Amino acid sequence: MCGIVGYIGKKNATEVVLNGLQRVEYRGYDSTGIAFIKNKSIQIYKKSGRLTQLLSVVQPDDNITNVAIGHTRWATHGIPNDSNAHPHSDNHNNIAVVHNGIIENYRNIKTMLLQKGYNFSSDTDSEVLAVFISSIYDEQINKDITEATRLALAKVQGTFGLLVISKIEPNKIVCARRGSPLILGIGEDDNEFIVASDQTAIVDYTKKVIFIEDDEMVVISNDGYYLKTLDNIAIKTKETSLIEFELGQLEKGGFEHFMLKEIFEQPETIMNATRGRMIQELGEIKLGGLSDFTDILTNMKRIIIVACGTSWHSALIGEYLIESLARLPVEVEYASEFRYRNAPLLDTDLVIAISQSGETADTLEAIREVKRQGVPVIGIVNVVGSTIARETNAGVYLHAGPEIGVASTKAFTSQVMVLLLLSIHLGLLHNKLSSNKAKKLIAEINKLPLQINKILSNKDKIKDIAIQLASSPNVLYLGRGLGYPIAMEGALKLKEISYLHSEGMPAAEMKHGPIALIDKNMPVIVVAMGEQDNKIWSNVEEIRTRGGRIILIDNEGNSAGRVNKEDIIIEVPRSVIEVSAILGVIPLQLLSYYVANHLGREIDNPRNLAKAVTVE
Ligand code: G6P
Repeated sequence: MCGIVGYIGKKNATEVVLNGLQRVEYRGYDSTGIAFIKNKSIQIYKKSGRLTQLLSVVQPDDNITNVAIGHTRWATHGIPNDSNAHPHSDNHNNIAVVHNGIIENYRNIKTMLLQKGYNFSSDTDSEVLAVFISSIYDEQINKDITEATRLALAKVQGTFGLLVISKIEPNKIVCARRGSPLILGIGEDDNEFIVASDQTAIVDYTKKVIFIEDDEMVVISNDGYYLKTLDNIAIKTKETSLIEFELGQLEKGGFEHFMLKEIFEQPETIMNATRGRMIQELGEIKLGGLSDFTDILTNMKRIIIVACGTSWHSALIGEYLIESLARLPVEVEYASEFRYRNAPLLDTDLVIAISQSGETADTLEAIREVKRQGVPVIGIVNVVGSTIARETNAGVYLHAGPEIGVASTKAFTSQVMVLLLLSIHLGLLHNKLSSNKAKKLIAEINKLPLQINKILSNKDKIKDIAIQLASSPNVLYLGRGLGYPIAMEGALKLKEISYLHSEGMPAAEMKHGPIALIDKNMPVIVVAMGEQDNKIWSNVEEIRTRGGRIILIDNEGNSAGRVNKEDIIIEVPRSVIEVSAILGVIPLQLLSYYVANHLGREIDNPRNLAKAVTVE
């Protein structure tokens, strides 16, 4: 989703900001732009399309400046064209703003500004904000762009991550946040700053950061920075943090796409999710982020998991795991639906929020609703220091490293891994799981990296299957038990990056409607994996009878004697059912990747998608 970058310091700001925009490309966008002050005037360059379009009209070396702001836009209000791209300016070209989020009352403000004689050249809510700030500045007796911004923001409803530059006060960037992430990077000698919506845009220059909170402003200049609240109260001290990942993790490392690199990182990311958290000899799990939460974990009676997209699929697996290993009731909710349903929560509930990015607006709002009702909420998050990580009461990090491919892969398997560890932990705490069973599960988990490598080494066969699949406009994915959320995740991966229509569902549900779609042109991917074995084979027969083409994901040796010569089978190493979800999804990730690659899709930045969806 939209990305923001701003820089002030001794380096060439145009170059730093364009480089930062390249770093946030992965979040998903449809237009880009940059503004800087040159020859005492604001220069704005913006283009619809990819960053290369912008680079064709603005070159860093031709535009050496010390202050610049830039933006990647993911359209909400107004189609993705040049004029709707950010930065936006006011009617006098005095200021330029980049804005993430949505100004919900922009129509009222626009009407008021039109009545006062101001004009607009775009359809965006963000231009309204730029003109609004400028109109307040016009009316000020003591002209001050920071105060004009603050007063404008006091009147807007909605969300913003905002940067403002002004040619009248040229050596500063005014930044503000409500509901849209903003991070301040502090560079050399504490008088060089890079502010961005994402740590990936900062790490090239510094690892020292301050997380700006909602309703805070920060003003940066060559002389330093100061923070205050939007209520105009100075913030004297603010903790600095260090970015935890390395620059190399943002490179493709020889792979054609980030997605492929991330699929191949999974033997390692799975180990990272478990490192220091399993005590094999004792059959115990240690989750440091939950150590102060033992009483709540022991006394709670129901778990509600909130998430979106891929994270929602890992939540479904979590439901299965917690119910079977800890015998606790679990409900899985789409965060967006849960947030507005006014669902009654109980004192004995625990909510788990799952999010790779830690910035998903729907999930964040669900967390706030849970906290409003006084119920504890823990996070399972990848991005360290992200808003969800900070707003939940406690949590467990995935430690999967930055995930750049929009379609989540390694974060998904790490989420499932952490949910499995949590399920074992809860099972032990609630006396529903013996330490012997826990030891066995830990032993199986320890085998995973080698088993994943084995699946990855089968990539050429999966690629061949993908090439056959690529000509089918529709694909069904079926599974039972744990195979069902894997089927859902497989279908989501395929549609996200190949744009083929695909649907995942419980295998038994097929006969209640979707079976009408089955004929010789419909490939059906069946995630068998030994789950309700006889029943799933009956479902396979129902498909065969109607001429459907079967692609089977199954444990090694499980299908022997049952497959027909027309069936395609992809085998995965055998494990216990609780662990096998992680193995079952990996061939489906590879399959989607190779279909999309065969079709020439933009795999890391699929159309219309955003990595972190920061609007509701
Ligand atoms: C977006 C992404 C999905 C992701 C979902 C939830 O829609 O495109 O890939 O699964 O957000 O993201 P989260 O960061 O909360 O896991």
